Amino acid sequence: MNFDTALNPNNVYEKTTETFNFLRTKIDFSPDIGIILGTGLGQLASEIKSTLTLPYNEIPHFLKPTVESHSGRLIFGELSGKKVVAMQGRFHYYEGYEMVAITFPVRVMHKLGIKTLIVSNAAGGLNPKFKVSDLMVITDHINLMGANPLRGVNDPRLGPRFPDMYNCYDKDLVKLAKRIARKLRIKLQSGVYIAVAGPNLETAAEYGALRILGADAVGMSTVPEVIVARQLGIRVLGFSVITDLGIPEELKPCNFEDVLKAASIAEPKLTRLITAVIKELK
Ligand code: HPA
Repeated sequence: MNFDTALNPNNVYEKTTETFNFLRTKIDFSPDIGIILGTGLGQLASEIKSTLTLPYNEIPHFLKPTVESHSGRLIFGELSGKKVVAMQGRFHYYEGYEMVAITFPVRVMHKLGIKTLIVSNAAGGLNPKFKVSDLMVITDHINLMGANPLRGVNDPRLGPRFPDMYNCYDKDLVKLAKRIARKLRIKLQSGVYIAVAGPNLETAAEYGALRILGADAVGMSTVPEVIVARQLGIRVLGFSVITDLGIPEELKPCNFEDVLKAASIAEPKLTRLITAVIKELK
C-alpha cells in the first residue's frame, strides 16, 4: 500500500479508509467520543484508561506536529466509563499544512464511530469580563482563517457540499457543560470563538476589531476540525482556556511561555469538567 501521496480532496475518502483499516489491525474498538486536546491541555490524556496509544508518526497519513508542546499521540481507551479516542496534540494551519490534512483525523475518528467530538484550545480573551486562566464553553464560532477544509472537489461520500452550521456547538451539550460546571463550582464563561491563521498574536487594533466582529475569544485552531465534524454530522462541544487578554487599552507583552503557564493553571479545571461531562453524555 502506498502511504506517500499527499492528502487532497480527491483522495481523502480513500485515505481515511486506509488509515481506518490500519487502525483496525491494531485494535478492535469503536469509540463513541472523540477528544482533541489543545495547546498545554494534554493532561486529560493521563485520565484515560488506555488500551492503545499510537504516536502520530506511526499512523498512515497523519501529520507530525511541529510545536514542541504538542506531544502528538492518538489514545484509545476508557474515560468515565465511555469509549473514547483522544488526540493529544493537534495540527495547526500556521504550521504550513493544508486544511484537508489538519482535519483528516476527524474523518478517521468518524469512521471509527464517534458521535460526539469534544475540542479544547488556548485562546486570547476579547471579552473584558474574562480573566487569564478562565474557561469558556464555546457557543459559536467565526471562521476568519481565510481558508476552509471543505474547499475543493467534494466527494459526496465525505458529506454534503454545503453543510449548514446550524447548532454547530450543540446547545444541549453547552447546557450540560454549564450545569456540571455549576455543580463542580468551576467558573465557566461562555462565548464566541474566532479563528485566525496566526502564528503571531494580534495587534491591539486587531484585538479591538475581532471584539467588534462579535467574538469573546481568539485562537488559531479548532474551527477547521469543527467544520469537518459538522459536515459528518458529529455533535460538537468546545472549550477555550483564556491564556492572555486582548483588551486593546490594557495590552501587555505576551510570549508562548505565558500562554503555556496560563493553560497549565486552567488545565486541572478543564480536566475535571470534561471528565464529568463525559460521564453524563448519552
Ligand atoms: N491570539 C490568538 N491565538 C491565541 C491567543 C491570542 O491572543 N492566545 C492563545 N492563542
